[in-house]
Amino acid sequence: MTVQINYKNSILKSKSANLILFVDEKFSISALKKYISNSEFSYISDLLKTSDLKKDILFFEINSKKTIFLMSIKKDLKISDIESLGAKFHGYINYDKKSDYLVNSDTVNSKIENFVGHFLHGLKLKSYEFNIYKSKKDKRIIFVNVIGNKNKISTKTQLRFRALEEGTFFTRDLVSEPGNILHPDEYAKRINSLKKFGLKINIYDEKKLKKLGMNSLLGVGQGSIRGSYLVTMEWNGAKNNSKPLGFVGKGVCFDTGGISLKPAKFMEDMTYDMAGSAVVVGLMKNLALRKAKINAVGVVGLVENMPGGNAQRPGDIVKSYSGKTIEILNTDAEGRLVLADALTFTEKKFKPKFMVDLATLTGAIIVSLGSEYAGLFSNNDKLSTQLLNAGEKVDEKLWRMPLHKNFDKLINSKIADMQNINYVGGAGSTTAAQFLQRFIINKTPWAHLDIAGMAFSKYGGALNSGGATGYGVRLLNKLIEDNYE
Ligand code: BES
Ligand code: MN
Ligand code: ZN
Repeated sequence: MTVQINYKNSILKSKSANLILFVDEKFSISALKKYISNSEFSYISDLLKTSDLKKDILFFEINSKKTIFLMSIKKDLKISDIESLGAKFHGYINYDKKSDYLVNSDTVNSKIENFVGHFLHGLKLKSYEFNIYKSKKDKRIIFVNVIGNKNKISTKTQLRFRALEEGTFFTRDLVSEPGNILHPDEYAKRINSLKKFGLKINIYDEKKLKKLGMNSLLGVGQGSIRGSYLVTMEWNGAKNNSKPLGFVGKGVCFDTGGISLKPAKFMEDMTYDMAGSAVVVGLMKNLALRKAKINAVGVVGLVENMPGGNAQRPGDIVKSYSGKTIEILNTDAEGRLVLADALTFTEKKFKPKFMVDLATLTGAIIVSLGSEYAGLFSNNDKLSTQLLNAGEKVDEKLWRMPLHKNFDKLINSKIADMQNINYVGGAGSTTAAQFLQRFIINKTPWAHLDIAGMAFSKYGGALNSGGATGYGVRLLNKLIEDNYE
């Protein structure tokens, strides 16, 4: 089922379409007389007497072709609540047999800007489904038309919502694809296709990476028959040479653990081990689609972590792009090895204003924060605050976790500059972040988001119906919107 939203803003008098009207927290309907017939009005008035007014949504079947939905705007509603309300409405559409809906924006009585836009944004985000491998698909198209003359949403704002939806859906598509389809070779191609939106794409293949000395990244992919890549996406929307905002993502297309092989149970989840990179890709697509007036660069490391005759061994030592040497004690701690080179490279080549990296980096962050918060690790309080605030606003929440030099001893190696795991145990997410920090060479403000618990949802969340969530795209878009444009 696809939901198609149209902002026609014209009064369509259709007897057969379903109607969505907004009311206050008490479901007062006196102001609705203009929009519904007398008989509809008295029918609804009667039924309201015995309805549960604590609900957000009540609906009244007028006839087989028309249902009137009343959306209650409770007091002190936040933007994320409006989006959740729209998402909740999706559940009602899903069971309805009808396909045309009219949303009357004249009935919105709220101080919140673009109320209907947020409502429909939530509905749209919730409607996403990944069904390309189902031979029987739900092919219904649901048309939702906005009508009314008040509370209009500018074309520019409509475009922003749509860009964000498309960016998020692109991320979800990439995360949902299984490992046999979206291996690094294919992934690099899909990113390359974003050229058509005005992004400058550079693909560094193994030959180029070897020349550059990115042995930390290359070591992870060396057991795979697929290539390993670093891909950069540049968006120059400020049309000047101002420093770009930097976004870096872990793109492990499948993580078997390598020679330090993972157990079979739930190993299939590791098809989403490239979610960090997919967020960066979806974010860049969004920025390009809405022609954001900023400069930004996205950098992703694409590899497949496989066991095999040529795979990296526990005990191997590699020299990273930074020059620092790493003793690989566990080939399953591979994300940090990919990010290490990607971070140093991004900092050196693009000299970004800041770098935010995203990665499904540790199982330990799921132990700490579950699926409510992503872990935030940062060397910069200002960037952290900006991220925390953005997260609260779009309901993609973050919780700040510590970095401290005392953790360093846990990852110092006897024979190399460092080792890729903490053998003593404990603080698994922090030691991983502390490892990454060693590859920020020039003190660039940096934040690491461990999204292992957020990228994928078995049961669904407020704005997703389960599966890939796209967590991070709207968060970073908000960070940019509120602080950098
Ligand atoms: N991709 C995993 C982390 C992960 C686990 C993501 C579960 C999503 C769900 C990562 O590469 C990994 O294997 N981490 C190890 C690190 C350990 C070997 C130090 C982990 O968390 O067990
Ligand atoms: Mn791993
Ligand atoms: Zn991994």
